[in-house]
Amino acid sequence: MLYRSIVNLCLMVLFTSTASIATAKTSGNYSYALATGKEDLRRLQYLNEAVNPYSLEFLKKYIKKGDRVLDLGCGPGIMSQKIASLVGVDGSVLGVDFSKKQLALAKKIASSEQFGNLSFERASADDLSKIKGKFDVVYIRFLLIHMRNPYEVAEQVKTVLKPGGHLLVEELYGNNTIKSRPYDYRIELIKKVDNLQEEIQKSDFTIAKTYGKFLAKNGYKVIANKTSQPKLDTPSKRRNFSMGMRSLEKTLIEHNKISKRKLRSMIQRVEKMEGNKKIELHFYKMGQIAAVLT
Ligand SMILES: C[S@@+](CC[C@H](N)C(=O)[O-])C[C@H]1O[C@@H](n2cnc3c(N)ncnc32)[C@H](O)[C@@H]1O
Repeated sequence: MLYRSIVNLCLMVLFTSTASIATAKTSGNYSYALATGKEDLRRLQYLNEAVNPYSLEFLKKYIKKGDRVLDLGCGPGIMSQKIASLVGVDGSVLGVDFSKKQLALAKKIASSEQFGNLSFERASADDLSKIKGKFDVVYIRFLLIHMRNPYEVAEQVKTVLKPGGHLLVEELYGNNTIKSRPYDYRIELIKKVDNLQEEIQKSDFTIAKTYGKFLAKNGYKVIANKTSQPKLDTPSKRRNFSMGMRSLEKTLIEHNKISKRKLRSMIQRVEKMEGNKKIELHFYKMGQIAAVLT
């Protein structure tokens, strides 16, 4: 306990000297702080490796063959492809993202896999007026924590979901859910960087805890609201923490949140922890919400 307090104190000193007086620039209404496109593909592949077994178990309960599914905030479309397989040739999937780079990558990867029932379109999750037709299912994974107004997304979804259609949300809980066993101080470095990301994005990293209640009061019937916590039990899954930190490097530096040298040294320390198989690592708790549009 005393050891942990000393470590926290040292980290506080480290951060007040480096994170300093941030002059956070914001671009438009959003500032997605992570990297996009090819630069971030490997991180997202490792993320998918860690969480997809949990996601697919959840999705299979609600997505059926022949469904028309919208994957909102699809990124490079790794899950969009999995869903395209679930719905089969009689169904279809539309992946939507606001990043041109993510969509270009998603299209490239999907074309090499030759999915006939998967397409992509550019739109922001808080304005779906461009999206034509209605869907049986809208799936949103790891998007809400990047939105300044995640509640508007649920309103927009109403405009594209069929009555009785399903909204499926998967989102990470806050960083106080990540764990190392035995406790390792380097877990605090990950949390600190997460906090800087949240500051820049001006978004809420604990939205998953309350989103179900919000949906229930706003036109949806919540039929499932549970959590899963992926265990990081392979070398690539264990890289998720350091790769997340790396993905933020450009933005953190642009926003004067930390020096490159300091961040790199923190990343190296986290990589060492990830490389030590004697330390068990548990990823963020993931909230899984299924709601029906009433
Ligand atoms: C962490 S990635 C998740 C990608 C994918 N859903 C997955 O689970 O692998 C978040 C994605 O949301 C996209 N995004 C962020 N803000 C958005 C917005 N306002 N509208 C649409 N997409 C957005 C980003 O471009 C990024 O591709």
